[in-house]
Amino acid sequence: MPRPAGRPDGSILVSQPRIRTAVILAAGEGKRMRSALPKVLHPLLGRTLLGHVLAAAEPLAAHRTLVVVGHGADQVTAHLAEIAPDAATVLQAEQRGTGHAVRIALDALTDLTGTVVVMNGDVPLLRPETVGALIADHESTGVAATVLAAEVADPTGLGRIVRDQAGRLEQIVEERDATEDQRRIREVNAGIYAFDAVLLRELLGKLSTDNDQGEEYLTDVFGLLAGAGDPVGVHLAGDPVETLGCNDRVELATLRGLLRDRVNESWMRSGVTLLDPASTWIDVTVMLGRDAVVDQNTQLRGATVVGAEALVGPDVTVVDSSVGAGATVLRSHVVGAEIGPRASVGPYAYLRPEAVLRERAKAGTFVEVKKSELGEGAKVPHLSYVGDATIGPKANIGAGTIFANYDGVRKHHTTVGEAAFIGCDTTLVAPVEVGAGAYVAAGSAITTSVPSGALGVTRAQQRDIEGWVARRRPGTTSAEAADRARREAAGTDEGESSHEPPRGGGDGAEARHTATE
Ligand code: UD1
Ligand code: MG
Repeated sequence: MPRPAGRPDGSILVSQPRIRTAVILAAGEGKRMRSALPKVLHPLLGRTLLGHVLAAAEPLAAHRTLVVVGHGADQVTAHLAEIAPDAATVLQAEQRGTGHAVRIALDALTDLTGTVVVMNGDVPLLRPETVGALIADHESTGVAATVLAAEVADPTGLGRIVRDQAGRLEQIVEERDATEDQRRIREVNAGIYAFDAVLLRELLGKLSTDNDQGEEYLTDVFGLLAGAGDPVGVHLAGDPVETLGCNDRVELATLRGLLRDRVNESWMRSGVTLLDPASTWIDVTVMLGRDAVVDQNTQLRGATVVGAEALVGPDVTVVDSSVGAGATVLRSHVVGAEIGPRASVGPYAYLRPEAVLRERAKAGTFVEVKKSELGEGAKVPHLSYVGDATIGPKANIGAGTIFANYDGVRKHHTTVGEAAFIGCDTTLVAPVEVGAGAYVAAGSAITTSVPSGALGVTRAQQRDIEGWVARRRPGTTSAEAADRARREAAGTDEGESSHEPPRGGGDGAEARHTATE
């Protein structure tokens, strides 16, 4: 239970019931990013910087969340509509400092009591647990304000926590305004704070701009409170890495590496094998099942779910897709697809949006699948394009099959029935249907439906022009090889010359037979 704190003037600081308001500061330009994209919209393993901060704010269970926008306000507002539709935006047209930003945000509220939590929008590694602990600390001690601080090895660029001889916070000083002595302090302001709402509003009206940047500093609220004898708190973050800000792309890359390690460690501790964590990049939004194995150089992004005992990698990218239990995905690119249990993908497959592989289906080497379903146990083992198709269970699609789905204007659908067999190098010109259990001869271009159980063949008949190479390509290695073969056959096969020369595989011979029927 929060307890009220006694103030020096004898009044009691009452901030119950605990209404919580979150204010996220995201109006700055982020000049050092040198980007057309506002800094807080830069992505970091599955969320924008702003998205990470909003996720960290979740334990607040804030009654309302205000995001202060300014630079790139339209873009930031549009992004918020997607990821946090309940958050309200407040426009800070001119960026006159963090204190100014919070003042504008609170001006938008008439009824303001309880706790206000302010978070810089550029601190993406902050954990929800840390925000939760800060709030619990703040509300249970009943102080006027609490700042999240960290002990860091290199405090360059950050505000320093200046304490008095009794160890109480005296003020927060920006580096550019600090004395030599103060610059040596390694305890820094992380940019996350909890305030008593009423006092905060009162003090924001008293901020000066008497500093190196001529801005209203939110941090000065602490000096004002301490100066008036109001108790303020410092909550030290257990892991200083959490408080790292992002000001340029070098820092962004550093944060990405740190977050990758955090995510990977957490998955390994939950029973997932990562064969090479250093080259494995898993978005914070991804889910993995027990005993899944992720091999090296693999990226799992967005709303991806990997089932138990699946094997993904090496060299795989999976975006917004599901990989079923026990499925295998090798050296492939998968976007917006559904891979069923024990299905097999790759090496070198490209699964595009709405590719659905049912249980034990296969999309093998150099196979591209788009908006198509492969039924249970159906196989497309090599070198094929499957677009806008429904392939029945246990069907087999031969190497080099193309589903010709596009007539230049519209896409059309192809249906291949259960256990149908499509010979190699077939073009299925949609819309077309191959019935259950039907066969299509290798090399056919199928333009009309093949009835169930029939063999469809559109191949021209083969003819062999005897002696053509000797006459038209004399002196070539082919001509020499043919001549040698002819002489060897004449020498060794005497008496057996009634044999037909071999002419391709079994299904080819059968199709030739069918075609002449
Ligand atoms: C701020 C703190 C510093 C702290 C550091 C932690 C102040 C005065 N200083 O410094 O003590 O160590 O964060 O990272 O607060 N913003 C606005 N409107 C403005 C100015 C800033 O919305 O007018 C937003 C920015 O977009 C950013 C956040 O506030 O998300 C912090 O601003 P920034 O300029 O990055 O402050 P720092 O110099 O990093
Ligand atoms: Mg900053």
